[in-house]
Amino acid sequence: MNDLVNAHPRGIARTCLTLNITKISTFHYPSMNSINTTITDVWDRHPDEIYRQDQSHYRGVGRWADDEAWLNIGNAARRRVSELWGLLGRTGTPQENLNILEWGPGGGANAYGLKDICSKFYGVDISEKNLIEAGRVLGAETVPGFFHPVLLAGDPASVTASIPPEIDIFFSTAVFQHFPSREYGREVLESIRNVCRDSAAGFIQIRFDNGIEKYKGIQGIEDYRARHIFANSYPLDVFWDLTMSAGFRPLYINAIRKANNYATFYLSAT
Ligand SMILES: C[S@@+](CC[C@H](N)C(=O)[O-])C[C@H]1O[C@@H](n2cnc3c(N)ncnc32)[C@H](O)[C@@H]1O
Repeated sequence: MNDLVNAHPRGIARTCLTLNITKISTFHYPSMNSINTTITDVWDRHPDEIYRQDQSHYRGVGRWADDEAWLNIGNAARRRVSELWGLLGRTGTPQENLNILEWGPGGGANAYGLKDICSKFYGVDISEKNLIEAGRVLGAETVPGFFHPVLLAGDPASVTASIPPEIDIFFSTAVFQHFPSREYGREVLESIRNVCRDSAAGFIQIRFDNGIEKYKGIQGIEDYRARHIFANSYPLDVFWDLTMSAGFRPLYINAIRKANNYATFYLSAT
């Protein structure tokens, strides 16, 4: 057994040697394992690989054959970090050498857009294929050891054993709507909070629930495969409170888009 196992008694961690992806499996929570299987069936084993890659934002695939559109994902993340700096009154402080955590990096567009301001980038994803793709996209343009892929193979809390609690910036875009429940999102927020420095800050994009049927979210995991695009949403005030109960201080909500019910929350860890 290695240090990761000792650090997290509920899980067993192993390292995939060729890819150096940390894998964590939890065996004591069968219901979480079956939820995990259902989500992974969509994001890693979907029968339509082009659909899967397009949905995961792979450079050059589907909608992302338009390279400007793909680069704009990362450019938006870069702008959001600057907005965060403004909200925190850090405009004179350089954005450099940051430890960044993204929950759900997909094809690596955000990591690519932020690579110049960070020294370590942790990506937690349910799909091993997506972690490999993000590493590939970054590979030629970053130093070895820059990208730390973490494969989520159990409950969201399991990843905290693989990420040092030294995160400066955390974020998640276009991912919370793919969670199987609101409760799962709370567990993700708590896991992120557990690896934050006290000075950390970040942004989380959600789909908001304003009563429109399409965005209401699923009632149970049996609906996940058919409705994974619209699986989860929160009323804005509910998510605001949820971030507080997970240990964050919500700062601001912006980019409230009625076209797709997206909203972005800016949070401070203290
Ligand atoms: C729409 S893509 C977004 C990719 C990236 N965040 C972006 O904005 O370009 C959704 C990503 O979330 C990942 N994902 C889905 N459910 C997840 C979960 N429970 N935990 C971590 N990642 C998840 C998918 O594998 C995929 O990589």
